[in-house]
Amino acid sequence: MPRKPFICGNWKMYTHRAEAVALAEGTAKAAADTPGVEVGACPPACYIEAVVAAAAGTPMVVGGQNMYFEPKGAFTGEIAGPMLKDLGCTYVILGHSERRHVFGEPDDLIARKVKAAFAAGLVPILCVGELLEERKAGKTDAVVRRHVTAGFDGLASDQAAQVVIAYEPVWAIGTGETATPDQAQEVHAFIRTLLADLYDARLAQAVRIQYGGSVKPDNAHALMAQADIDGALVGGASLKVDSFGAIIAEGAKAKGV
Ligand code: 13P
Repeated sequence: MPRKPFICGNWKMYTHRAEAVALAEGTAKAAADTPGVEVGACPPACYIEAVVAAAAGTPMVVGGQNMYFEPKGAFTGEIAGPMLKDLGCTYVILGHSERRHVFGEPDDLIARKVKAAFAAGLVPILCVGELLEERKAGKTDAVVRRHVTAGFDGLASDQAAQVVIAYEPVWAIGTGETATPDQAQEVHAFIRTLLADLYDARLAQAVRIQYGGSVKPDNAHALMAQADIDGALVGGASLKVDSFGAIIAEGAKAKGV
């Protein structure tokens, strides 16, 4: 089974309601125009419902940007997996570098969230990736190994096969500095060897691995032309229909779909 390319916007803490709806309408149109690519967006939680409504009847999928691992309870300010599911989410981003490094989320917390996402009927987009100083110190593989191993801890293979991994080198996020296609491909291939070790070769070939970090229309083709890059998790450039639509079109071209 070929891996269906998946290009998803991460809107982070941007947009207001009207902007979110307009962006969702444009994204949904791009999704409908490009059936060979799965297209989605992860809006701020407060706009998920409006975005789901704008995407209704189109193939566009919607995800949360984070969740807590408990299904309910006295956890002020948190959002639960079943709530995201109830709003119409298919996916949830977990372990984003901003969660890891701004909010101090450790690997074991992220691992609990991954399991809780499945329990809620959501598919996790598990983000992994090294800091600049880790790359400079030659620790990229070790960091990615730790993130992947912890994130998949205790997952049976039927769930593991569904996880979407986003390789997002932290030094490339929001900086305008992208990993070169070769640098990204090398880490993506390494992630498949990790999955083959943790599970088996078939599963390693089935899991989709997105690249994230300053993906723009002008670098999207070269990145997604790489054999092990199955799509993109896009921050800044997903906030404009023109640039996100162009990235989707470039991804479809690169993958020949
Ligand atoms: P940018 O595309 O803005 O670099 O953000 C990437 C990202 O963090 C997506 O999750």
